Amino acid sequence: MKKIAPSILSADFSKLDKEVRAVEKAGADLIHVDVMDGHFVPNITIGPLVVQGLRKLTSLPLDVHLMIEKPQDFIEPFAQAGSNWITVHVEVCRNMKQVLKIIRQLKVRPGVVLNPQTPLKKIFTFLDEVDFVLLMSVNPGFGGQTFIPNVLKKVEQLRKIIDKNGYPIEIEVDGGIKLDNIKEVSRAGGDIFVLGTGIFKTLNYKETIRKLRQEIS
Ligand code: DX5
Ligand code: ZN
Repeated sequence: MKKIAPSILSADFSKLDKEVRAVEKAGADLIHVDVMDGHFVPNITIGPLVVQGLRKLTSLPLDVHLMIEKPQDFIEPFAQAGSNWITVHVEVCRNMKQVLKIIRQLKVRPGVVLNPQTPLKKIFTFLDEVDFVLLMSVNPGFGGQTFIPNVLKKVEQLRKIIDKNGYPIEIEVDGGIKLDNIKEVSRAGGDIFVLGTGIFKTLNYKETIRKLRQEIS
């Protein structure tokens, strides 16, 4: 089943509760939470306290995308705050295998994430440890950027590797996805689609998610 994951980065933070409840009601499958530290990316967003707050607002899985240095130091606080999925960037994590194991021990689904320019071969040794791979289709740090079309080839390549080896891994794609390109991303082999502005900057979330699903069905 293909999934739609609204990224709250583009929600109105002055009424985050309403926004989260609205996308849940509108049929979202997960809530994508972008954690940024001002070091790995040039922006700062939210920490475990906000995740703890989100946990009370929704029963949807919280998909926590860590764009931070030293991710190993923050796995436990984010897991305890109620994260259901945690992704760690391969560019910053030196002991990835161990970090992925810790995530799983904490009963959270582990995922690995790659920037648009990072080659797929960087994750080949981790494919046994992850439940999903997140492919960035913009450079991380901000919502509202343009989809980098080269990433489609990467999605196709990863799809082939996963299918050939029978890995139980989902492919998530994040950045610049909209109603007018989600079909291409889905055809390339994407399973989970993160949309920030593509949902939160539209007027009717329910209508938007309905149309998105039509495109990927
Ligand atoms: C970017 C974040 C994305 C972002 C996507 O660093 O990881 O999740 O919110 O936003 P849009 O869909 O607007 O590109
Ligand atoms: Zn993200």
